[in-house]
Amino acid sequence: MAEIIDGKKIASQLDDRTKTQVDEMIAAGMERPGLAVILVGADPASQVYVGRKIKACEKVGINSSEYRLPAETSQDELLALIARLNADPSVHGILCQVPLPRQIDTQKVLLAIDPAKDVDGFHPVNAGLLFTGSRGLVACTPSGVIELLKSVVPDPTGLDALVIGRSNIVGKPVAILLLNEGCTVTVSHSKTRDLPEKARRADIIVAASGIPEMVKGDWVKPGAVLLDVGISRVPGASGKDRLVGDIAFDEVQHARAVTPVPGGVGPMTIACLLANTVQAAKAQADDAATTN
Ligand code: GUN
Repeated sequence: MAEIIDGKKIASQLDDRTKTQVDEMIAAGMERPGLAVILVGADPASQVYVGRKIKACEKVGINSSEYRLPAETSQDELLALIARLNADPSVHGILCQVPLPRQIDTQKVLLAIDPAKDVDGFHPVNAGLLFTGSRGLVACTPSGVIELLKSVVPDPTGLDALVIGRSNIVGKPVAILLLNEGCTVTVSHSKTRDLPEKARRADIIVAASGIPEMVKGDWVKPGAVLLDVGISRVPGASGKDRLVGDIAFDEVQHARAVTPVPGGVGPMTIACLLANTVQAAKAQADDAATTN
């Protein structure tokens, strides 16, 4: 029987550590970390995610401010808000939920966020720091995936890892993190040939294709560790929708461990966001101390 990796429990342990760090900062007379969350438009999934992020801040003692802007917000208006938040010393982290409405150039917006406040780790400066092996702010979902992997395999050095998906948000950063952990990494995508055969050779599979239940049982080597980033709504047998990942969960009992959907990678993303906000607040306090 495959071990089910309890993302909720591991996320809650990370939240406890984050809360302790916030308490220590306050006790040391430092400012309480602050996160600004921007949502443009009314995408239902984004509304749910943003609501969860705001609520999670409260749990660990991070101040949150929420900016819900209408769908017709112009790029200049959004950039002006970001400039204001960049300059606000009580804001240590800025997160602009994507996707953004069509009239807004997402890349321009992400570039406008001060890299020191980029708690999503999406800015090219932070992506570059990750690429060169130093620890800037790392994208939350990829960090969460690595934490869950290490809960099962504390030292993955030398293992063969297959990443399915090459997005800037998940596939590419998770591949670099695995490489930094000493894994031999294959990054696959929609044009990859013989994917099932590549999957069967992998000790670790990170599935981030967005294709529901794409990774079948016979793609998985006995004893492999499976990390499922996907979350899709599909029609269930009872007529009610059910949530599934990119891995056919019921077919992988011969794996060593697998993350469930929901309750696997999802909760880790928010826990990593909170941890990043505290990391950013501490780094900004250190910077202020050295420049004063
Ligand atoms: N949309 C989906 N996931 C994310 C995320 O981690 N951060 C932001 N900003 N937008 C998202």
